[in-house]
Amino acid sequence: MNKYMSIAALIFLLAASPVRGAEVPLYKDAAAAPAARAADLLGRMTVEEKFGQLQQLDGLWEGNYREEHLKLAREGKLGSTLNVRTAPFANTLQKEAVENSRLGIPVLFAFDVIHGYRTIFPVPLGESAQWDPLLAEAAASAAAEEAYSVGLKWTFAPMVDIARDPRWGRIVEGSGEDAYLGSRLAAARVRGFQGSDYGAPGKVMACAKHWVGYGAAEAGRDYNSTDISESALRNIYFPPFKAAVEAGVPTFMTAFNDLNGVPSTANKRNIAGVLRSEWGFKGFVVSDYTSVKELILHGLAADGEDAAVKALSAGVDMEMVSTLYRETGPAALAAGKISQADLDASVLRVLELKFRAGIFENPYIDPALEAKTLKTPEKLALALNAALKSMVLLKNEGALLPLDPKLKKVAVIGALADSRADMLGSWSADGKPADAVTLLEGIKEAVSPVTWVSYSSGAFAGATDKDLDKAVAAAAAADVIIAAVGETFDLSGEAASRVSLALPGRQLELLERLKKTGRPVVAVVFNGRPLELGWLNDNIPAILEAWQPGTQAGSAVAQTLFGKSNPGGKLPVTFPRSVGQVPIYYGHRNTGRPPDAKEKYTSKYIDSSFEPLYPFGYGLSYSSFAFSGLAVSPASIKPDGKVQVSFEVKNISRRSGDEVAQVYIKDEAGSETRPVRELKGFQRVTLAPGEARVLTFELGPAELGWHYAGGFAVEPGRFKIYAGSSSVGGLEASFEVKP
Ligand code: BGC
Repeated sequence: MNKYMSIAALIFLLAASPVRGAEVPLYKDAAAAPAARAADLLGRMTVEEKFGQLQQLDGLWEGNYREEHLKLAREGKLGSTLNVRTAPFANTLQKEAVENSRLGIPVLFAFDVIHGYRTIFPVPLGESAQWDPLLAEAAASAAAEEAYSVGLKWTFAPMVDIARDPRWGRIVEGSGEDAYLGSRLAAARVRGFQGSDYGAPGKVMACAKHWVGYGAAEAGRDYNSTDISESALRNIYFPPFKAAVEAGVPTFMTAFNDLNGVPSTANKRNIAGVLRSEWGFKGFVVSDYTSVKELILHGLAADGEDAAVKALSAGVDMEMVSTLYRETGPAALAAGKISQADLDASVLRVLELKFRAGIFENPYIDPALEAKTLKTPEKLALALNAALKSMVLLKNEGALLPLDPKLKKVAVIGALADSRADMLGSWSADGKPADAVTLLEGIKEAVSPVTWVSYSSGAFAGATDKDLDKAVAAAAAADVIIAAVGETFDLSGEAASRVSLALPGRQLELLERLKKTGRPVVAVVFNGRPLELGWLNDNIPAILEAWQPGTQAGSAVAQTLFGKSNPGGKLPVTFPRSVGQVPIYYGHRNTGRPPDAKEKYTSKYIDSSFEPLYPFGYGLSYSSFAFSGLAVSPASIKPDGKVQVSFEVKNISRRSGDEVAQVYIKDEAGSETRPVRELKGFQRVTLAPGEARVLTFELGPAELGWHYAGGFAVEPGRFKIYAGSSSVGGLEASFEVKP
């Protein structure tokens, strides 16, 4: 039987079904197809129950349900909750729905499991710096196992918004600026959460969010309007969502922003049109938190009923937190403002996924599972590996790093070095700060027993002259100063946009004074967004970008600083020199007057370099690598053909290490101008000293094509290929696409 059959076919089947007339209704037959069960159940529901299934309500922060949830569940009017979790709370609420409601439809429990549930992995932007989709998949899989063990069956992840403005605090939640890297990671995370069947124990349904364009918030201000061309939507913002659909994501969440004048939560062309009709998405769409109600403030809906009508008719199946579907839906239906077909289609989509998720058969969670599942040694080891792989070495003058573990005196400076909560990031689910290893602890673990480690907190908000003096005095006597700088966890994430990308507080002043001690300084940067690190780059010999690395933060950073691990991550996002360059990203167009330092009338600044501080794809290692022998064959192809790109990467140092080989294209001329470079392949490889490996990439229509006004096409003409260790420089070759 077809996985998703038409309603007409279902009615026919039901009429002929042998279960008909039997005591057990078809929808309760676990062996029947989910679509058939959903259709059978729909036929038994009242209008109120239907709208009730489209309602998602928020629980209490600690995981409990609210009193009203029990009543709604009993009445069959609670489709889903967010934040209700752990066996005592989830099972009690579930019992009302399953055993005490008329039809026994279970509640679907959701939560934001973004980069781990209890074992916390690096923030998604840091995870993206691994350039290792299999590792991201493994982290999502571990997170799913933990989430499942506390009764959850749905996570609001992955967040796949492309972001090119680091003022926007939510840049931390995504994969950075690039559509290709973002697409690979979107698919990997979906696979990790769901496995091959999200209905299986230990798996959860994923949710691609926020559909769509949320990352383009004007001025980087969260929730702000967006205005995005069709070309940018198709070529930049849509691809990670499409990749999530292709990886089997069953749910989407709409975004808060209005896009080209139409709020995402009522954007029919994108939900019913692009997502469902064009891409064939069969799952359901949930609004963001109260975003149905917000249609009124946007100025799209006149009142609550109008908001419900517009969102539901656009294809938003489930309403998160606001209650307009439930409250105004029945009357709007009776008045013909909501069509019966739209309502039924939404309810069917929700029910079908509930059947597929297996919660009719397994509505409860075993209270004993949590203790066996959370923070197991395997998961902690994975979190350590993930944190190690996310480290990006930005500068290492005179090979200051790695440090010798037998140094006599190490001064650790900066409050972030002794902070647990700040290691976890802004969406750390049920991660406990107490579980996190601080940098100070990690350093003490990593150095020899005779090394003396001092600590001084330094320079965050509220720091006094005395605090700074103390830190500088402690540092002056040390063999090396390790300065932990950057942002606290609450300076990025939702509703945490900044107009400045500078180090907050008096951290720069502290670094200036530390430099004056004449002792070598290593800066470790903890952050959820690109920061202005220009002064550091000019003055501090070694800089390690650590992001917010999660539960194993301190161990990972210290093992990297002291050489037990060799950093090999690469930036998934451009680091500007100053906020005035924003938005700045590698995949820009060339313009008719590309920047030329010697020519005034070219596209640049008169008061700053036009170049970023650190480009996309950039990152150093304690090893050195050489690229050679770029070959592209054949030399010409048809638009539907494929080219093989191969080259050698060699470790030319005496240390084993990782390099991320990157392949970029440039379509030299076409009916629409294209970016100066587009990432189209990468591979992270570990190479022993002297080891060389030939890497081969195949590029076909999916990689070479572009969404033009007339549709997706590979246009004839010359394509350049770049292969190297970042988005700048590298080997060059070219080939021709012939009509
Ligand atoms: C965020 C979503 C999140 C939801 C539920 C909203 O404020 O935008 O990303 O999934 O809350 O917590």
